[in-house]
Amino acid sequence: MWHPENPIRHQIPEARWPESEEAAKSLLFQPIGVGPVRLESRTWVPAMVPWRATDDGFVTRSNLDWYRRFAQGQPGALVVEATGVRDVASGPLLRIGHDRYIPGLRELVETVREASHGRTRLFIQIIDFLSVKRRPDKTKFFERFLALTEGHRRALTQATGEARWLDEGEREVRSFLGTAPDALLESVLDERELESLRFGYRERVTDTSLPHVRDLPRVLPEIFAAAARRAREAGFDGVELHYAHAYTMASFLSARNTREDGYGGRRENRVRLPLEVYRAVRERVGDDYVVGVRFLGDEVIEGGNRVDDASYFGVEFARAGFDYLSISKGGKFEDAKQPKVGQAVYPYTGRSGYECMPTVISDARGPFSRSVPVVSEIKRAVSSAGFTTPLVAAGGITTFEQAERILQSGEADIAGFARQALADPDWFLKVRLGLGTTVRRCTYTNYCEGLDQMHKQVTCKLWDHLDMDEQGIALSRDGKRRLLPPRWKEESDR
Ligand SMILES: Cc1cc2nc3c(=O)[nH]c(=O)nc-3n(C[C@H](O)[C@H](O)[C@H](O)COP(=O)(O)O)c2cc1C
Ligand code: SF4
Repeated sequence: MWHPENPIRHQIPEARWPESEEAAKSLLFQPIGVGPVRLESRTWVPAMVPWRATDDGFVTRSNLDWYRRFAQGQPGALVVEATGVRDVASGPLLRIGHDRYIPGLRELVETVREASHGRTRLFIQIIDFLSVKRRPDKTKFFERFLALTEGHRRALTQATGEARWLDEGEREVRSFLGTAPDALLESVLDERELESLRFGYRERVTDTSLPHVRDLPRVLPEIFAAAARRAREAGFDGVELHYAHAYTMASFLSARNTREDGYGGRRENRVRLPLEVYRAVRERVGDDYVVGVRFLGDEVIEGGNRVDDASYFGVEFARAGFDYLSISKGGKFEDAKQPKVGQAVYPYTGRSGYECMPTVISDARGPFSRSVPVVSEIKRAVSSAGFTTPLVAAGGITTFEQAERILQSGEADIAGFARQALADPDWFLKVRLGLGTTVRRCTYTNYCEGLDQMHKQVTCKLWDHLDMDEQGIALSRDGKRRLLPPRWKEESDR
């Protein structure tokens, strides 16, 4: 995990919890309209991937248990994890790229309705991503992956002063490069090849020489629209288009998108495909259905989008008709740490990753409400343009007073709690009932994020070793961790 220079270790903020009457009167627990639906409170659990689907992307019992547990806490809205819009292999991540996924997703919807007594609105985040390969073993890279060219031979000749490389057998060239020192490789390979060697091959939206990347603007609107139609058929209250972090749609929005086909370069062009996808989705699901978006208030990478870009996109998204704007930050590949051989690069290991899920080892500003300033700036732009589309803030929101202050000051309309909800999914119910002192407080040290990075079933360190002798509890694959927090005794009959 990346940390700022001269880090400061912050304490989690002291909390003063309201009595139930105060909670009932607070803005946080007032209803709010999100497009055609009404949330019972302005509390929100943003998407979190728990690594619990089958290898072919189906909903499992474990997924149902996970979302049931969040629903028992009755947040105003719960967003189901990033779910793939295509019907392609993507490990134990949920998919919605074919009608065969609808029955499992429908069961998930029913589970949440029942467990929340109908008090939690359920959205599903839908995502497209490009190919990312694991970091290869060096020998294997040169034996199998590098497309050897005349250019490599010439560079090798120049670097070594040996003309024999111009017509040496391919096997010899590959085997020599496989043991060559870094300095020599740097003069023989180009930037992308070096990146593929050191980080694993990763496609970009700017790789327009690849037909399937060139064609993204042609194919993605229909793929997203079909996925959104399935979400509606499965009974979700809405879909959230994932335009954030390191994935395809965020890469179209990025200031680093230099495509020259009208879908890159100027902001107006970068937002073109995201708007075309939105319109295709809207046309398919109709006006009486929630279509929201998650995008970045700041990419936090060199040459990336800043809050002024995000404000522009926010206004365009509101104008187009999105029902809510959920703001995240960072989470990019560009500044990610080098993975170990055999592992894939993880977009939450650099500075941008830190800004996405900030920890208590921080700079002077600290992790709490860290994204609120960018959310508030985007909100100002959206309001000035005459739109009332609600904005969701997330990032280190943990206490009642903190959330209430954000809403009262008009910096955001809805408070998102990701890790705090993972630490204690009953936060919402406990606080509403005046029982905030019983909340299990997130420590913002990112054990959960470490599990995500290793593609292990996500749990929280505060509860995954509690009451291990409880009858019938589900355990992680290695049998060492429970997969769900214990039930809150007082909650069972509310
Ligand atoms: C384990 C884990 C998985 C996550 N998965 C997603 C995801 O699927 N989609 C997404 O937009 N954000 C994802 N996030 C980011 C969160 O939604 C949230 O933006 C971030 O954790 C900051 O909010 P917090 O401080 O309340 O945790 C994930 C975060 C965690 C900890
Ligand atoms: S493991 Fe638990 S306490 Fe630690 S950051 Fe994640 S949710 Fe918070």
